[in-house]
Amino acid sequence: MANIGVMGTGYVGLTTAVCFSELGHKVVGFDIDIKKVNTLKSGISTIHEDGMSELIVKNLNNDNLVFTDSINHISDCDFVFLCVPTPQDSDGSADLSYVIKAAKDLNKVIKKNAILVTKSTVPVNAWKDIVSTLQREDVTVVSNPEFLREGTAISDFFNPDRIVVGSLISSKAKEVAELYKQGNVTTIITDNSSAELIKYASNSFLAIKLSYVNEIAALCEAVGANANDVLFGMGEDTRIGSKFLKPGPGWGGSCFPKDVRALRVTAENNSINMSLLSAALESNEKTFRRIADKVEHELGNSLIGKKICVWGLAFKAGTDDFRDSPSIAVIERLIGRGASVVAYDPVVKKSNIESLKITSKIEESCSDVDAIVLLTEWEDFKAINPDSIKKLVKNQIIIDSRNILNRDLWMKSGFKYIGNGW
Ligand code: UDX
Repeated sequence: MANIGVMGTGYVGLTTAVCFSELGHKVVGFDIDIKKVNTLKSGISTIHEDGMSELIVKNLNNDNLVFTDSINHISDCDFVFLCVPTPQDSDGSADLSYVIKAAKDLNKVIKKNAILVTKSTVPVNAWKDIVSTLQREDVTVVSNPEFLREGTAISDFFNPDRIVVGSLISSKAKEVAELYKQGNVTTIITDNSSAELIKYASNSFLAIKLSYVNEIAALCEAVGANANDVLFGMGEDTRIGSKFLKPGPGWGGSCFPKDVRALRVTAENNSINMSLLSAALESNEKTFRRIADKVEHELGNSLIGKKICVWGLAFKAGTDDFRDSPSIAVIERLIGRGASVVAYDPVVKKSNIESLKITSKIEESCSDVDAIVLLTEWEDFKAINPDSIKKLVKNQIIIDSRNILNRDLWMKSGFKYIGNGW
């Protein structure tokens, strides 16, 4: 069992710390936010993630896990995972200031001959900045990007598609890979720069794929085809694959938008024009607009004075995260065109839009509304009985941007059902 330090207890850091402790390692989770540390120490998860609180309590109790706001507690650790944020800078590049500050702070603290593992998503070759800031020749910097998805973070950690570890010294990369105890999982041992790039290349590819999916849905709508069938038919080709083929209100979240922009900056800085990245971002904006257009079209081509109910604020189901959420992007457009919006989300109870009213009950959100728009694919929405909703609304119009509702059921109840691409 190894002594592991984790710097930063956000989505990635907390999952990493808790899951490594569950594997039997001794883990110290460090964060500068004392409030967060105290919440975690009391056994409460600071993120909405299925099973997280239970694992925190279990591993606090068996002494595999401690949380601290004192960096000195990391000095006994043989492995230190950097999981601090790399937010988007004003030019779209990744802001490395937290990573650099952490590397500086570790200079005097990190154990002799330890391994510093970068899990934060950092642009290609950032590892060189970390090495030069850390100024510790005895410490090896290893790049180990994280691929966990919010909402399924714990199961992603224990059942990864692959583990990517990059280092100039492959034996050190292997030591890091072994911490995961995933004998049967494809493990890619490579150099630091390639490991860093695998993360950006993967996320950006998925974003491009989704932009394409949403454009196919738009085309299906225009030509009278059924996007569900078209996309299913495409996915049956094993070269394409059936995952990540669902149309929606656009893609978002804390990773895709920021990673696509950061990769574009890296490419530009190296005189490579990755025009597909710009096209994917532009196409995504068009998707936000297209969903707002659909609502407007149903309401006589004007949203002025209209009251719209939105179901879902999280950027996808299973998370409380609404950073760069497509729902927020669509709501902004609805409000910008003169509508008032009332939203319900099973988990998200706040937003960054002042005029957005958020209700605590589904029924309240649809009272006297001109249309309902479903933007996040929560299971709760599938369970709604349209008969109980139809008495509340002004117009029986439902726009299902995720194609998750039972069209026949809603139509039988008298609703005009408008799907995405069918
Ligand atoms: C993503 C990557 O998947 C993960 O590997 C990386 O570590 C972090 O970024 P995450 O941001 O949690 O994970 O969300 P993900 O499940 O990938 O979804 C991203 C966006 O695409 C969401 O807005 C989601 O609703 C949308 N999406 C996804 C679709 O619209 N259709 C799909 O078929 C799949």
